[in-house]
Amino acid sequence: MPAGSTDRRIDKLIHLLVKNATVVVPGPKIASEIGVTRSTVWEWIKKLRSLGMEIKGHHASGYQLVKIPDVLVPSLLRSELGENEIGQSLVHFFRTDSTNNVALRLAARGAAHGTVVVAEEQTAGRGRLGRTWYSEKSSGIYASIILRPPLSPSAAPVLTLMAGLAVQSALSSTTGLAVDIRWPNDLLVNGKKVCGILTEMHAELDRLHTVVLGIGINVNHLQMPRELKEIATSLRIEAQKTWSRVHLTKALLKELERYYRLLLVQGSAAITRRWEAVSSFASGKRVRVISPAGECLATTAGLEPTGALRVRYEDGREESLVAGEIFEVK
Ligand code: BTN
Repeated sequence: MPAGSTDRRIDKLIHLLVKNATVVVPGPKIASEIGVTRSTVWEWIKKLRSLGMEIKGHHASGYQLVKIPDVLVPSLLRSELGENEIGQSLVHFFRTDSTNNVALRLAARGAAHGTVVVAEEQTAGRGRLGRTWYSEKSSGIYASIILRPPLSPSAAPVLTLMAGLAVQSALSSTTGLAVDIRWPNDLLVNGKKVCGILTEMHAELDRLHTVVLGIGINVNHLQMPRELKEIATSLRIEAQKTWSRVHLTKALLKELERYYRLLLVQGSAAITRRWEAVSSFASGKRVRVISPAGECLATTAGLEPTGALRVRYEDGREESLVAGEIFEVK
């Protein structure tokens, strides 16, 4: 078990309380079932309460859940994942620096394809282009997925688009909100960002060794910090209601599995075609292109089979972007 990850016995404690949610579970029963002392159970109950979990009772009377907690622990995520390879192995943290850092370390030590690292809070969440990712405690989904694709490094951009499609599908089917994808892989609701994806990898010359898909979703944030308000939002702000992060994460892992298989079975074109059908940014969108070469106005003109975005600049030049960012110009 990676250092700092949630003790499996805490996960068992939560599972036991959820399974017996209608009754008061005596402290000694919990202690003997999970293999710790009664005072440890009491300490852990206090810790879970401090994290916002509503649990009635105390060590003399026993404990009862007031409502099913929305914590991304393996015992709550695992149900319904069935044969899903993605999520067979789940590592949970109440707090870590960055789930991508953890996933990269686990991958280097041989973690299996499909291993998922999730955290309730990140103290050093990382975004693209060296930015930080705002990772408020228990409000968002901060997840990193280890993939071992039998593909060449040239497939990396399509893997990133594949992840965007999976998030788009999970979020729109769960919330009913209209979720757009801005190339390469920002998820937008009403023009503001609700999710970002940071893909990191280790590749050999002819083979992708490990890909870590880092996915950050703003779910139940009541408001975004002042400096992000204009450009970022949360599902709660847009829908005026809170969402189960457990439910959304399960939907996400299932969609990732579905789109990953689509990519392996039908190839890149199946992903780029689907992406062009889903994203309003795929073609005919006036955008500001920000690339290492500078800033320019352009109109989008579809995807290359490699996942690069074709753009037509105002002076008539055409280019296929492999890196950089685009922003809509109204
Ligand atoms: C972006 O800049 O849009 C990408 C943001 C990616 C954030 C996620 S949160 C989970 C994972 N861990 C990180 O440190 N970053 C990614």
